[in-house]
Amino acid sequence: MKEQSGNLLIIDDEDSIRDTLKEILEDEGYRVFAAEDGQDGLAVLRDNDIDVVFLDIWLPRRGGIDVLGDIKSENSDIEVVIISGHANVDLAVKAIKLGAYDFLEKPLDIGSVLTLAGKAVELKKLKTENRSLKSQLKGSEEKVLLIGESQGINHIRKTIAQGAPSDSRILILGENGTGKELIARMIHQGSPRLGQPFIEVNCAAIPDNLIESELFGHEKGAFTGAVGRKKGKFELADGGTLFLDEVADMSLNAQAKVLRAIQEMVFERVGGEESIRVDVRIIAATNKDIRKEVEEGRFREDLYFRLNVIPINVPPLQEREGDVVLLLEHFINQFSAGTRQFTAEAMEELSGYAWPGNIRELRNFVERINVMSDDNPIGLASVSTFLHRFEEGDKKSAPSFLGDLGEMKLSEARDEFEKRMIIEKLEENGYNVSRTAGVLGLYPGNLHNKIKKYGIDTKK
Ligand SMILES: Nc1ncnc2c1ncn2[C@@H]1O[C@H](COP(=O)(O)OP(=O)(O)OP(=O)(O)O)[C@@H](O)[C@H]1O
Ligand SMILES: [Mg+2]
Repeated sequence: MKEQSGNLLIIDDEDSIRDTLKEILEDEGYRVFAAEDGQDGLAVLRDNDIDVVFLDIWLPRRGGIDVLGDIKSENSDIEVVIISGHANVDLAVKAIKLGAYDFLEKPLDIGSVLTLAGKAVELKKLKTENRSLKSQLKGSEEKVLLIGESQGINHIRKTIAQGAPSDSRILILGENGTGKELIARMIHQGSPRLGQPFIEVNCAAIPDNLIESELFGHEKGAFTGAVGRKKGKFELADGGTLFLDEVADMSLNAQAKVLRAIQEMVFERVGGEESIRVDVRIIAATNKDIRKEVEEGRFREDLYFRLNVIPINVPPLQEREGDVVLLLEHFINQFSAGTRQFTAEAMEELSGYAWPGNIRELRNFVERINVMSDDNPIGLASVSTFLHRFEEGDKKSAPSFLGDLGEMKLSEARDEFEKRMIIEKLEENGYNVSRTAGVLGLYPGNLHNKIKKYGIDTKK
């Protein structure tokens, strides 16, 4: 017979059950651990790479349902098989709703024990494998494409080709939505640092009192709320590239700290003594007129000179002759998976439009028209309807903070918001339901109901 592999843990207060199960499962080739209660069980779990737990639902002190929650918040990939007496099958069913894999009723049937162990171990291994594949995918960046054949874009391509391989600092200047971040990623990808981290900091988005800790990290207890040691962006970018986005929005105080860090590549964490040395390539960007910021005393001149070793000026879309057509073709191809096009008249109309929001606006426009219109090729009529609508909207008021929720009925928008928030928090918490419930201030059971209601896929 085939030897089974996998690490199992039995949590049961009855000696006879623990011993029998251990014996049967070890005979099959599994490594088997045993514990009398949840607390001991968790200790075993933390020290060993456990795949499947056999958990008695009726435990002294902390009950099986609570222990199940503890196990899942330790590692939600671990599968739990509930052992239940006939009298508390209802509890076992509840446990399954809370994420247990299946249950076994006492007296135990050896055949079912072995079948369940095999299936649960296989599932756990698949989940773990999936997760590691996913994180590898995230690490290997998708290659970015700079679309356009205009003089401005070709010039930028040349600068990237010449500047990327060196370690020189690069300052990218351009209006909103012109592709500054995309260019920064291309530079990283064209450099020997490809494969090392590309770390982005949006300097405008971080409150001034946190920017230092965000950039340089902090030691435990450095300030209220600093519960553990945290690495800053400079440290995270070690060996790779640090992209300081919206750099002109940094306070003068933060600018002084950044100046020293980029000159010496040495800094201390907030609340720390140790000097940390890193090797980081700096790319910065801003949509502000940075020379004017310098003249008016809001941006340090010395920092400006340090950052501006290779400048890249990104022209607004309006100044890129012929590129609108190429971008339209590229995006409609992308959004429709190659199934749709624009007519020549539609293209002409769109080429004459000013695109104040540059490539980002154009991309959003194509994304929406691909959803909202159903003619193919997409003609002048659809284009003028939708383009006109947005132009008027833009003139009347700033975009609503509700975004696309603003177009729904209140009840729909409320559900949609709830769904998106749950998905986002689940992602942030590695699809660990108990932990996510904690973050959202919900009981896990309640969160489970919502996950079901919205059909959210938690087996990521
Ligand atoms: N030349 C291009 N080819 C293809 N896609 C582009 C191009 N330029 C920009 N984009 C796309 O347009 C969007 C906006 O670009 P990006 O975020 O790089 O602009 P940005 O200048 O950083 O904007 P902001 O100043 O608002 O932060 C992104 O989705 C980007 O991938
Ligand atoms: Mg940007």
